[in-house]
Amino acid sequence: MTGQRVPIEPQRVDAPLTQSATFLVVTATNKSGSIQTIKSTLAGLDSLAKNVSIRDLNAQFACTVGIGSDIWDSLTGLPRPAELHPFREVKGSKHTAVSTPGDLLFHIRSERRDICFEFERQLMDQLGDSVSVVDETVGFRYFDVRDLLGFVDGTANPVGPAVPSSVLVAEEDTSAQGGSYIVVQKYTHALESWKKLSAEQQEKIIGRTKLDNVELDDAESGQRSHKTLNTIEDEQGNEHDILRDNMPFGSPGSGDFGTYFIGYTRRLWVIEKMLERMFVGDPPGLHDRLLDFSTPLTGTTFFAPSASFLTSLDSD
Ligand code: HEM
Repeated sequence: MTGQRVPIEPQRVDAPLTQSATFLVVTATNKSGSIQTIKSTLAGLDSLAKNVSIRDLNAQFACTVGIGSDIWDSLTGLPRPAELHPFREVKGSKHTAVSTPGDLLFHIRSERRDICFEFERQLMDQLGDSVSVVDETVGFRYFDVRDLLGFVDGTANPVGPAVPSSVLVAEEDTSAQGGSYIVVQKYTHALESWKKLSAEQQEKIIGRTKLDNVELDDAESGQRSHKTLNTIEDEQGNEHDILRDNMPFGSPGSGDFGTYFIGYTRRLWVIEKMLERMFVGDPPGLHDRLLDFSTPLTGTTFFAPSASFLTSLDSD
């Protein structure tokens, strides 16, 4: 390990896929001093990360924090990212993308479950009663990056220089530059009904083959696959990617199986458009058939500012 440094890059949205992740969503309480406690915790997040990541340099620790729309002004006192607003419910004729509360998201990643656990423990110690937990989901890597429906999940993610250009706000919004919008949704799966479909039916829903993960052709008309509905082009015909780091979660003993969806994007409208195409359908009425087997329990939007922005929060 000689020569290896603590891999500290706070707010590293493009951190590698890891074996384990914790998705922690909290809201601020109205106890006196809550906002100040949150500010100083966020400003000191890099020190907190160092405490934990030094203990195993190979564990690929990363934590990204996202700030919700409702708390943005009181927490930062700084200009709002141009597109930041609370998650907008999307109501289709059969399925609804619900909107649920959340002031802060901590996306904690590591190769080691104990490292995620330890960071979250120290983080919660610092936050104390300034927050209450809305949802805490522990995700795990499932074989060759599969979701619990059995498909490889994350293939079409951008790579290399396409990552920052898809994920980080740039010159179009200077005060938000270097940050990223994040949308999370916690889905549960009706696995028993999913398993009743043939592999071929499942593949048509997803848009890729199950075993070897090969892309299927887009349907010319009629029902579109999940893959096709989530391919977004702007008016000039440019395709816009997002970065997903979905994780399975669940407990066979209690029969709970799910996917925690997390999407990072430079343009919030791109994920909103995906949700509209999934839930309302394209054409309207032909929703994403994945939703007949997957129900979102949460839906929340955040903005992950740059690391230097976070550090500046404690300057007053
Ligand atoms: C139950 C939750 C979900 C599951 C299990 C799931 C699973 C998958 C799988 C297996 C693929 C194909 C492989 C890949 O490229 O990753 C895929 C593609 C994709 N999904 Fe999802 N997904 C879920 C929810 C969502 C949501 C909510 C969004 C966006 C709002 C989304 C956006 C995408 C995108 C952008 C692609 C790539 C499309 C392309 O090929 O260009 N997914 N998803």
